[in-house]
Amino acid sequence: MIHSLSRLGAFTAVTFALAAPAAFAQSNDEMLELGREVFLERAEPACGLCHTLADAETDGGIGPILDELQPSTDQVRLAVTLGVGPMQPYTDLSEEEIEALAFYVATVTGGTVSEEEEDAEAAE
Ligand code: HEC
Repeated sequence: MIHSLSRLGAFTAVTFALAAPAAFAQSNDEMLELGREVFLERAEPACGLCHTLADAETDGGIGPILDELQPSTDQVRLAVTLGVGPMQPYTDLSEEEIEALAFYVATVTGGTVSEEEEDAEAAE
């Protein structure tokens, strides 16, 4: 009995290791936490000055309401790195910060989270 239980434990551990998307160096919770911090504090000017995002409790009214737009991770990443319209590109954020930010905004708004984005970047 003890023997079979420990086998089950080992099996579960392996299954979880395989199921974790290779693209995420950190756990999803850590990514979300970092992304929220980037959205509220690290990005300069702060995203919330212009955007409403319920999860971050911001009510900016210059850019689109992110909860309604439901941007994908790719959309956030492009807007932040290249800029869009009056929104300036953010050149001071690290790749890790931008990935976390994109993951955070897409996740809390219900936008599409692309797990291939890191592969796509590696190919560029
Ligand atoms: C100075 C105001 C301003 C700030 C600060 C700002 N944005 Fe924007 N953002 C805009 C405006 C305006 C648009 C719409 C641009 C357009 O459609 O021409 C926009 C568009 C977007 C879009 C949609 C892009 C698309 O594909 O249509 C996303 C996603 C976005 N912003 C995310 C962010 C994030 C994340 C931050 C913080 C890193 C941020 N914005 C900071 C004004 C701002």
